[in-house]
Amino acid sequence: MSTPSITRLADYRAPEFLIEKTYLSFDLNEAYTDVSSKLSIVSNPQSGKTSDLFLHGEQLELLSLAINDQPLSSADYQISREGLTIYNVPEQFVLHCKTRIYPDKNTALEGLYRSSGMYCTQCEAEGFRKITYYLDRPDVMSEFETVIIADDNAFSVMLSNGNCLSDSVVDGKRIVHWHDPFKKPSYLFALVAGNLDCLEDSFITQSGRNVLLQIYTEAKDSDKCDFAMQSLKKAMRWDEEVYGREYDLDRFMIVAVDDFNMGAMENKGLNIFNTSCVLAHPKSTTDAAFQRVESVVAHEYFHNWSGNRVTCRDWFQLSLKEGLTVYRDEEFSADMNSRAVKRIEGASFMRNVQFVEDAGPMAHPVRPDSYLEISNFYTMTIYEKGAEVVRMLANILGPENYHKGTDLYFERFDGQAVTCDDFVACMEETSGKDLHQFRLWYSQAGTPQLHISDSYDAERQQYHLHVRQHTPETPGQPLKQALHIPLKITLYGEQGAQDLIIEGKNYGEETVLDICREQQTIVFDNITEKPSPSLLREFSAPVKVDYDYQLQQLQQLVLLDSDGFCRWDAVQNLMGRVLHEAIEGDSKEPTQDALIQSLKRLLQNFSAMDMGLLACLLDLPSEHYVASRYEKADPAAISQARTHLQHQLALALEPELLACYQALAGEVAGLSAEAMAARSLRNRALGYLMCIDKAIYRGLAEQQFLHAENMTDQFAALKAMVHAEHAHIEAQHALQAFYQQWQNDALVVNMWLQVQATKPWGDVLRDVRALLEHPAFDKRNPNKLRAVIAAFANQNFSQFHQLSGEAYQFLAEQIADIDQRNPQIAARLLTPLTHWHQFIAPYGQLMKAALDSLSQHELSKDVYEVLSKSLVEN
Ligand code: BES
Ligand code: ZN
Repeated sequence: MSTPSITRLADYRAPEFLIEKTYLSFDLNEAYTDVSSKLSIVSNPQSGKTSDLFLHGEQLELLSLAINDQPLSSADYQISREGLTIYNVPEQFVLHCKTRIYPDKNTALEGLYRSSGMYCTQCEAEGFRKITYYLDRPDVMSEFETVIIADDNAFSVMLSNGNCLSDSVVDGKRIVHWHDPFKKPSYLFALVAGNLDCLEDSFITQSGRNVLLQIYTEAKDSDKCDFAMQSLKKAMRWDEEVYGREYDLDRFMIVAVDDFNMGAMENKGLNIFNTSCVLAHPKSTTDAAFQRVESVVAHEYFHNWSGNRVTCRDWFQLSLKEGLTVYRDEEFSADMNSRAVKRIEGASFMRNVQFVEDAGPMAHPVRPDSYLEISNFYTMTIYEKGAEVVRMLANILGPENYHKGTDLYFERFDGQAVTCDDFVACMEETSGKDLHQFRLWYSQAGTPQLHISDSYDAERQQYHLHVRQHTPETPGQPLKQALHIPLKITLYGEQGAQDLIIEGKNYGEETVLDICREQQTIVFDNITEKPSPSLLREFSAPVKVDYDYQLQQLQQLVLLDSDGFCRWDAVQNLMGRVLHEAIEGDSKEPTQDALIQSLKRLLQNFSAMDMGLLACLLDLPSEHYVASRYEKADPAAISQARTHLQHQLALALEPELLACYQALAGEVAGLSAEAMAARSLRNRALGYLMCIDKAIYRGLAEQQFLHAENMTDQFAALKAMVHAEHAHIEAQHALQAFYQQWQNDALVVNMWLQVQATKPWGDVLRDVRALLEHPAFDKRNPNKLRAVIAAFANQNFSQFHQLSGEAYQFLAEQIADIDQRNPQIAARLLTPLTHWHQFIAPYGQLMKAALDSLSQHELSKDVYEVLSKSLVEN
């Protein structure tokens, strides 16, 4: 392919034209759809004058074009692969354009496409240009009116954004007319037409307005919408109470579709969801999936303000809406469930996924400087690190000033398309804090490392904490500046938390240190004994901390720290040490003992603890995280050490694990937080016990599988059986029985596929190849690709990193094939191979060879960008 062009933030220019009103009409025919648009265009007073109008448009068949009802001739315009240029347009005019598109042939799932017969759209980020010629950029906001026309009786529902103005039948055609009174960019446009059932409810807003709530699904799924509806109502209430944000239209619709590249989309008044993020039923949905539904429903709803009413000026500002909205949905989930568990999950995700991205060839700042394909920038950095940046702001400012800042932001920029800097400026204005150094978090990539050491002066009763920060280089950013890092700490002595007295001021037992310089020392007075520092409490910044703890300090933190994250971090630290020693061939008794003793104490007391937290404490660090701690990682050594440790822990804690498993047998019904926590702990215990080769544990798992009352327990038992090293024939039977039972439920079948693709033993690549031929597989459906191929490549470390390199080649072949149909999904699947430089020979070389073989194919821009960036030698 010809080298695609780079889009740069520095080249941003205000649009030359604006579209004040957008009138669209869709004529849905079986074989094609005709789109007619009437755009009221004016030249933008904020921009220099030009008389040529460029409109984005891709894969469109142009049927006709007119300005102010005057048809244009072919000399008046030119069409390229990227769009349409019309020469010499007036300052103000109406453009009338007709295009023909083919939704049935749209396998990229961008623009207007069909999923199980229904029509639906996905326009973010640049999908609208596959519907009609338009200024498809987020800073062009327009008022939309949409008419949908189809044969009468073809579809039971025909939906678009906003309010329905009319619904009538003329000459055998049904015509439905929608109007969205709020100006919006084209990426928030949506259309749905299909035969769908609807769950209805209503919500009374703070100011007393009644909002109609609707969730549309295929008839077979109509019994799986209650939970999403409850979640929506909770989210609406929460946004009123916590952010003072009320819903603005009279109607809020959600539509569930099977074929969807992402999780869900916040189209104004008409959210479109991947079925995996909205459908839920106690019999067929795990607790983790319930929580996912709750958070995605909330996330998309929260976008109504953070994204829709106030949107992004350009796609470099993507984190303005995504980082802020993830922070909002995480806080919502923390309020609805266990805050400690939510925070550990967030921190763990940052470490396992975002830190890895930040250390690889695709590393980029929260506000990137350039891209080839914007779809590749819906990343962990934009989302998760972006959310951490907002969280740091909230913590630096404190809740009151933070909310004054968000109030100002929403009020000042309502109806506008703005930048990350505008957001920070509001925070600065309302708090009076100087945030200029803090802004570096938006422009500087890479994970900062804090090296912390300390010293204690008994005579002066002073404790010194020395903090040095360093951010490693990332592509295009060799030199890094010191960041403003909020480091939340507590000092534990024999008697518990100490008062923190710095320069004569007493901050109580916990404080946030503002780390702003490359090196700085903080002096604490009146400290009567050498304390154990509890560092980065609540994961107060997205950084790595290294402090050389004594084993017994870690044990103390595991058992006594009042911060859940720090307890978890202390266990992770102990586990990490055991793994490191094993990998280095230098296992030490005391480290493993310290870990075992700590876990034993916790398990013996499990009933007095937050069981969800305890479940997290039992988790081993992921292979990815362990690998990221090495300059060059040996995947086989890592997998082996980790499996060995799991086995050792199971043996050492066997009686406690069994007691815990048995004690929790009766307490597991329902969806309350306590029930979910108990299930997660009990199933963790089962997972460990199944590492031990004993028939009684296989029996427990089998009994649990057969008699489970809910999917969490049924699936945990299935997974424990299938993934056990000493799996017996009953695991095979359970897999078959599970498929028999659930073959008509696509989402459960995906779990069935996934559990097989992630099995750590046997010839899994062969199994994966066979799954691709299974009737339940569909290579056009992103959820299936994720369940088999992505799960294998991302969640099956030991099987993906085979010494033969065969799995790498397999992935490259699959990507080349998928890229023909769906470039976005293909590019995402490439991620695991891009980290080739982190692995020792021959793994790294074999991964690179797979990338090289992929580069022989004709590739989309999406895959080309990821591939070319990851092939750069460093
Ligand atoms: N706006 C995105 C969806 C999107 C992303 C559409 C990229 C097109 C391209 C949506 O708000 C979102 O962020 N969805 C997430 C889930 C969310 C809970 C973080 C997703 O789809 O994974
Ligand atoms: Zn989002």
